[in-house]
Amino acid sequence: MSFPDPLTASNAALAIEPAFRVGGVAVHGDLILSPMDGYSDQPFRSLCRSIGSAMSYTEFINAIDVVHILKRIEAKFAYLEAERPVVFQIFDDDPQRLLKAAQMLVPYQPDIIDINMGCSDKSVAGRGAGAGLLREPGKVASIFRLLSQNLPVPVTGKIRLGWDAESRNYLDIARIIEDNGGALVAVHGRTKAQGYGGEADWDAIAEIKQALHIPVIGNGDVRTVADIDRLKAHTGCDGVMVGRAAIGNPWIFARLDREDVTREQVHQIVYDHLGRMQEFYGPERGLVLFRKHAAHYLGPLFKSVAERRQLLTETDSQNFLAKVESLYAAGA
Ligand SMILES: Cc1cc2nc3c(=O)[nH]c(=O)nc-3n(C[C@H](O)[C@H](O)[C@H](O)COP(=O)(O)O)c2cc1C
Repeated sequence: MSFPDPLTASNAALAIEPAFRVGGVAVHGDLILSPMDGYSDQPFRSLCRSIGSAMSYTEFINAIDVVHILKRIEAKFAYLEAERPVVFQIFDDDPQRLLKAAQMLVPYQPDIIDINMGCSDKSVAGRGAGAGLLREPGKVASIFRLLSQNLPVPVTGKIRLGWDAESRNYLDIARIIEDNGGALVAVHGRTKAQGYGGEADWDAIAEIKQALHIPVIGNGDVRTVADIDRLKAHTGCDGVMVGRAAIGNPWIFARLDREDVTREQVHQIVYDHLGRMQEFYGPERGLVLFRKHAAHYLGPLFKSVAERRQLLTETDSQNFLAKVESLYAAGA
């Protein structure tokens, strides 16, 4: 008499320990695509997730838009089931409006709601949202208390180290997030004043990891696979977020540096990524929005500025792909 094996393939998969948990949400993997406005849309996120990014953060979503024009901005937080866990990132300076926006987003079934406390753009930070919140620890406490008590999903925060070199209050802010119900902190290791200049301070990320009990994701200046391992070793953080280095190299989520990616892999991803873009945005807009990615994928193949410009201004899909093929034929 034979009995079914209790450890079927799917049970075995479920039994694998997650890299970390965000509240009750298991995250299987320690590499994550950073939220990036203009880049981390559904097509790019789902592509990165299929290669190895462990969860999907949306581009930041303005809570004011959610409250007033929700239907018009649905594309901003549309996602594929395969992307889960899905994190909707929202920004605002008003705790009540953040709560209202989050509650309006809950029916779209995100796994996690994240508060952006890192955006350095004047239009956001200047009005006290994004990194502007770092200057108001009391408000950060209210936001996390309010949202974590009133939402059915975990609430997390993505922060910078402070407003400027004189106000690096990252430890206070990180503790406030944890003490008020936050379930994870992601840290870009720069101040608002630094923008994207200078070097990310990984020592500060290590300090935050030491101080908290909830998971910490480290972020900033990961350009190569070796950087991933260095950041993890340096900080002990639970996960690593990769932003700019993933543009043109989503294989970083499979721990491949760009020089280790074959020409054929690049060739295939141009079709895969363009296909996802056109399915999501429609044929014309999909191509136009894909061209900035194509610039990164195909950069090494261009022989002249004119050749580059001709491809990156093409508006017809067939012509675009014909030009891609001739780039490949020329380089064969
Ligand atoms: C074009 C661009 C858009 C970004 N948009 C967002 C955003 O919507 N939300 C957010 O939290 N961070 C945003 N960031 C910051 C990144 O998530 C990340 O913290 C930063 O780029 C540092 O990581 P990196 O060195 O790996 O790029 C953006 C960065 C870039 C370059």
